[in-house]
Amino acid sequence: MAAQRITAIYPGSFDPITNGHLDLIERGSKIFDELIVAVLRNPEKSPLFSLQERVEMLQEVVQHCPNVSVDTFDGLLVDYAVRRQARVILRGIRAVSDFENEMQMALMNRKLDPNLETVFMMPAVAYTFLSSRLVREVCQLGGDTRSLVPPQVEERLRSKAV
Ligand code: PNS
Repeated sequence: MAAQRITAIYPGSFDPITNGHLDLIERGSKIFDELIVAVLRNPEKSPLFSLQERVEMLQEVVQHCPNVSVDTFDGLLVDYAVRRQARVILRGIRAVSDFENEMQMALMNRKLDPNLETVFMMPAVAYTFLSSRLVREVCQLGGDTRSLVPPQVEERLRSKAV
């Protein structure tokens, strides 16, 4: 029997994508046949970057990964996963502090759809302190974000800061 192709979804807000996210995307692209980076469409939040900007930045920085695509979703993640025929949700865990929330989400998603597995991966140690929230804060307070995000994102961050 031929092995089944595995499509994974890497969901998130990506406001903006950081080097930690990119590290996880690269790791995920090596173990899954197809990886869909899915940006949540959440009209209640007021993000720094519009949905379109976040999608554009993601598309720019994943160009070197041929099996990675970028999409948006709203509603339940499990419903989106079924629509995309994905069997895996990929999430990153940076530190123990991420674990509780991630475990809750993974178990809720499993309750909603027992066929869907959440797979956790750790980014490189160098990125364990990184978050989009901190990147936004550093940028808004005039700090240097060059080593925190891909160059294309840093350029856009600078234009938001002025
Ligand atoms: O980057 P984030 O903000 O940590 O990503 C959170 C995200 C988008 C993965 C999560 O909020 C989500 O899956 N939202 C979709 C709504 C949903 O399915 N909720 C119930 C599952 S816990």
